[in-house]
Amino acid sequence: MSRAAVLCGLGGALPERIVSNEELAAQLDTSDRWIRTRTGIGQRHVVAPGQSTSDLAVAAGAQALASARGTAGQPDDGVDLVVLATSTPDRPCPATAPDVAHRLGLGGVASFDVSAVCTGFVYALATAASMITAGVAGRALVIGADTFSTILDPADRTTRAIFGDGAGAVVLRAGEAGEPGALLGFDLGSDGSGTDLITVRAGGSRQRSVPGPAAAGEEFFTMDGRPVFTRAVLDMSRSSQNLLERVGWSTAEVDKVVAHQANIRILNAVGEQLGLEEKQIVANLDRVGNTVAASIPLALRDAVAGGELQPGHRVLLTGFGGGLTWGSAALVWPELETGRPHR
Ligand code: UT7
Repeated sequence: MSRAAVLCGLGGALPERIVSNEELAAQLDTSDRWIRTRTGIGQRHVVAPGQSTSDLAVAAGAQALASARGTAGQPDDGVDLVVLATSTPDRPCPATAPDVAHRLGLGGVASFDVSAVCTGFVYALATAASMITAGVAGRALVIGADTFSTILDPADRTTRAIFGDGAGAVVLRAGEAGEPGALLGFDLGSDGSGTDLITVRAGGSRQRSVPGPAAAGEEFFTMDGRPVFTRAVLDMSRSSQNLLERVGWSTAEVDKVVAHQANIRILNAVGEQLGLEEKQIVANLDRVGNTVAASIPLALRDAVAGGELQPGHRVLLTGFGGGLTWGSAALVWPELETGRPHR
C-alpha cells in the first residue's frame, strides 16, 4: 500500500451574531424574497467588532483537533503542519497561520497561509496532503477561515446578501491509500485573465507603489456576479468531471457532492451539468451564506451533524473562486468522532 493523507478530524466555528435577510432589507434596497429566490440564502453570521479571522480559525482548529483525538486516540503533538486558507488574513504580513498554530499550543510547527479565495480550502487540502504523501509532514491541520464582512462595501446590496463569516477545519494524518478518509486525488486550476472579476483593488503593492491614499471604495471587495456565476458552473463541473475520470468513479457512484456554497442556483446548475440527483448535493448556504474558504469544511461539518454524510460515502469536493481558481478532491468518508457542533 502506498502512503496517503487520511482525513481524521473535522470542526467548524461561526460567529455568534446572525444577520437575517430582513435585517439587511431594513438597511439596503433589497428583500428577503430577492435574496432567497436569487441565492437560496436565509441568513449569515458576522464577526463582532474586534473579532477576526484568526479567532474563528483557532475555534475551528481546536474542534478539529478534538475530533481527531476522539477518532484516532492520538495526541495533538503529532501535528507538524498548519495550513490556513484565507483571503481575509488578520494582517497583510505576516501570515495568520503561525499565530493560529501558536494559540492552539502546537509549538514550532511549519505554518503558512494559502490564498485562493473560495477555492482556498481545496488548495490548502491538496498542499497539506501532498506534503504528507511526500514525507515532509506527518499530521496536518488544514483550516479555511474568512471574515468577508470586514471587507464588504456596506452599501453593496449584492455582496452583503451573499457573504458570511466562518471557519472550518480538518486534520490529516499519514496513512495508507486504501483506508477510508484517504484523499484519492485532486484537480486544480486557475485563469488569471479573470483577476478583476473578484477583487479588492487597493491595499496591495500595485496601489501602494503610487504615493497617496487609495481611491474611495477601492479597499472594498467587489464581484462581477453574472460572469462569475457562469464560470463557477462551468469550472466546477469541468473540474469535477476531470477528477471523477481520474479516480474512476461515475457521477452515479458519488454519494455526496460538497461544492462551494456560493448560490443555490449555482449548485443546482452544477448538478444538472453533472447529471446529479438532488439527494447527492449537500447545501447549507441557507443558514451560513457564502463563507469563502470556510464554505466546504462547514458544509461537511453540517452534513455530518445532520446525518446526511455517512461513513463509506463516496464524496466529491469542488470549489471555485477569485483568481479565478477552481479545484476538486475525492475521498471515501471515514468514521469520525466530531462531538457537538460549535454553533
Ligand atoms: O464565491 C465566489 C464565487 N461567487 C459566486 O459564485 C457568485 C456568483 N454570482 C451570483 O451568485 C449571482 O450573480 C448574484 C447573486 C451575485 C446576482 O444574481 P443575478 O441573478 O446574477 O443578478 P444580477 O446581478 O443579474 O442582477 C439582477 C438585478 C439587478 O437589477 P436590474 O439591473 O435588473 O434592475 C441588480 O441590481 O437584481 C439586482 N440586485 C438586487 N436586487 C435586490 C442585485 N443584488 C440585489 C439585492 N436585492 N441584494
